[in-house]
Amino acid sequence: MIPRNHAPGMDDAEPYLPATDMPRFIRDMMEFVELTERDVVAIRSSAPVVLRHAEALTAALYEKFLALPRSARFFLREDGTVDTERLERRKHSLARWLRETGEAAASAEFSYYLLNVGIAHSHRAHDPGGQIPPHLMVGAMSLAQTALAGLFDSELERSEAAAASAAWNKLLLVNLSVLLLGYLPPQRIR
Ligand code: HEM
Repeated sequence: MIPRNHAPGMDDAEPYLPATDMPRFIRDMMEFVELTERDVVAIRSSAPVVLRHAEALTAALYEKFLALPRSARFFLREDGTVDTERLERRKHSLARWLRETGEAAASAEFSYYLLNVGIAHSHRAHDPGGQIPPHLMVGAMSLAQTALAGLFDSELERSEAAAASAAWNKLLLVNLSVLLLGYLPPQRIR
């Protein structure tokens, strides 16, 4: 985690636009959800399990997206068939996100990468389908949480699994808070 460069309650009062200081935004969210050093350890030590199953996890998520017309419509060609090439690219992108998230880094690079991922959904330049609705982003994160909890239950000792699930849940929702920024009008926050 990035160390705070100010004590809580000090220059926190200075309002800022999240996109101008993403490491601060992520750091503050981590603090808010109480993502501790212990959680970071739990995330990093369970990351190899996640990575080993990254392909199956991303395949399951995309299978779900394709199963319902309201999410499948973003992956179709004009003739209504699934754009498999595009889908494969998306699977790689999702696997990269999982990998980088598993490092539990709050580096400037990662924080702006996440902001860009959010903008790729909220301000989609290419059809089909236009903007990915924000509620589907929330739903996708729920799917990811459920899939990871199931994976940890089957691959780790009980106490390790519980710690990993709790820690990943916090981190995924910190990620979600970044992914949703592009949907909201720019607003100064504290
Ligand atoms: C947990 C939530 C999600 C994560 C972490 C995620 C991750 C990603 C990543 C990393 C990319 C590549 C962005 C880039 O080009 O730099 C991407 C693109 C994309 N995602 Fe997602 N995604 C999520 C949810 C969804 C949902 C719910 C849908 C639609 C049902 C969706 C549809 C797409 C599409 C269509 C693109 C391509 C954007 C474009 O270039 O037109 N994603 N996603």
